[in-house]
Amino acid sequence: MCKQIMCGIAGYVGPRKAVDVVFDQLKRLEYRGYDSAGVAYLENGDINVLKRAGKLNELTGLMADGTPNVHLAIAHSRWATHGAPTDENAHPHFDQFEQISIIHNGIIENYLDLKAELAQQGSEFRSDTDTEVAAHVIGCEYTEGVALEEAVRRAVKRLRGAYALVVVSKREPEKIVCARNASPLVIGLGEGETMLASDIPALLPYTRSVIILEDDRIAVLLPEGVRVTNLDGQELPVTPLHIDWDVSAAEKGGYEHFMLKEIHEQPEVVRQCLAGRVDDKGRARLDNVFGQSVWNNTDRIVIVACGTSYHAGLMGKYLFEKLLRLPTDVFHASEFRYGDPVLSPNSLALFISQSGETADTLAALKLCQARRIRTLGIVNVIGSSIARECDRTIITQAGPEISVASTKAFTAQVIALVLLMLHVAQEKEMPGVRVEEITRDLLELPELAQRAMLAEGEIIRAAEKMRDAKLVFFLGRGADALVALEGALKLKEIAYVATQESPAGEMKHGPLALVEKGVFAVMGATESEMREKLASNIKEMQARGGQVLAITTEGDDLIPKIAEFVVRLPKSGSEFLNALLSIIPMQLLAYHLARLNGCEIDQPRNLAKSVTVE
Ligand code: AGP
Repeated sequence: MCKQIMCGIAGYVGPRKAVDVVFDQLKRLEYRGYDSAGVAYLENGDINVLKRAGKLNELTGLMADGTPNVHLAIAHSRWATHGAPTDENAHPHFDQFEQISIIHNGIIENYLDLKAELAQQGSEFRSDTDTEVAAHVIGCEYTEGVALEEAVRRAVKRLRGAYALVVVSKREPEKIVCARNASPLVIGLGEGETMLASDIPALLPYTRSVIILEDDRIAVLLPEGVRVTNLDGQELPVTPLHIDWDVSAAEKGGYEHFMLKEIHEQPEVVRQCLAGRVDDKGRARLDNVFGQSVWNNTDRIVIVACGTSYHAGLMGKYLFEKLLRLPTDVFHASEFRYGDPVLSPNSLALFISQSGETADTLAALKLCQARRIRTLGIVNVIGSSIARECDRTIITQAGPEISVASTKAFTAQVIALVLLMLHVAQEKEMPGVRVEEITRDLLELPELAQRAMLAEGEIIRAAEKMRDAKLVFFLGRGADALVALEGALKLKEIAYVATQESPAGEMKHGPLALVEKGVFAVMGATESEMREKLASNIKEMQARGGQVLAITTEGDDLIPKIAEFVVRLPKSGSEFLNALLSIIPMQLLAYHLARLNGCEIDQPRNLAKSVTVE
């Protein structure tokens, strides 16, 4: 199966100029990454489709003389999966009778079988996409006397895979019909207008009232509202959520890039993540997380996640094992789901995901559900699949993260893990865990994170020297070595610089052979007991022509004497929080190196924000 990155979906029906609205919505979804874009709108009883390979301005350029004055449109930005990024393969796609036009996010797994069946019945296809096949399936079902809603319902029963499908029709030009299974779809309710998108930020300028469409639901959008039914055609009640995010939180807010904005938001993110979660006795207060009987019976934690969230999971293991003495394993979700994991009934599975839609993580969650293992999520996006599917979920409250490179979500995930560790210590009545001291340190963290931002000047100086680096090592020991993994991922994905990450003590077991002039190391050195050993590691690097950017804490008088570049972080009473703070200079380094090298920071090549299909 191929890897697919989420596409952008937009739709509008109401009094405004619909094409302007859907273009604006797509623009707000640009962070997803895409290689082509298209729009379909209803005009004088006809469906007009325009689509182009390339960025959105290739498409909007086709309407340079002005957008049509129409009141219903759907639009799509595509990341190629089935078929190259060409005009033909871009969405929307017509059915075989040109009665309907559809856009789609996801993968129709049985599309080849369906295509063969349809071809036998006379269908001719203009593209290589699975989406066009889905359009033809709907076309088949959309016979005389059948309503579009019913045709979509019948069609989706024939589809296997993930989809958010959005359909418009010549015969019913006043409505948009959509269906969802495993790919996100959000409906926005306005005054006399209704809209949809694949993600909430696209709707925020228009409405705060949203419905997160559930799996196996069909929705019909009219200007006056929405009707949601299940696959049996039964109408279901809907409860809109009120989204109180500030619109500017989903926009750049004066920063050159979302990534920089999100790095600088971290002090506030820590505050938000802690909000209401530490009581006035200095105890952690996590609502809706399992209680004492569950934790007393849990003998192993299994953490499953991808990418940055996986790195947060490693910090979770560090905390749970070091402070709770609770055996914890961390798995890449893509390995876990196919690895036939050993799970006892007393295991508890913890899923970490910013988006809550990552396909591998979701599949791993389903595997644990099938094995009847308790599941707990740490998720940023409320209403996302993982947030809804887990038995219990802790929302990280980091606000929308737009930049493809995850920054503030990592910090929030680690804070949530610290809170969870404290919650377990409280429930299990473990006096050895200094709960009140740690919560006090947590409450001080926003201020320390703010001071950590002062490192930016030194980081820019180091980035200028590292512009032509052949290779950058990311080293540390203990928790510093874990955060270093995340620092290395940032540099790779944003600045396209090759990195080698390893615990510092491993260097002489092999990686040291790579060190020569032009090679740098970023060294996490926040743990005071390890400094002498790290000083030796720095010298090993330097003796072979390497240079070192060391991240240490105030009061260290050893490392600053020897490293070429030094960042001194303010000191927290909890050493693992010092290690967490060290991610800030590492994120800033990736950002400034990428900026100096002219990289596309918010949308790095080959990557996009959410990986919703395997
Ligand atoms: C991080 O910068 C990446 N964008 C990526 O590794 C990401 O963390 C991963 O795809 C997991 O996403 P999730 O947290 O939304 O599940």
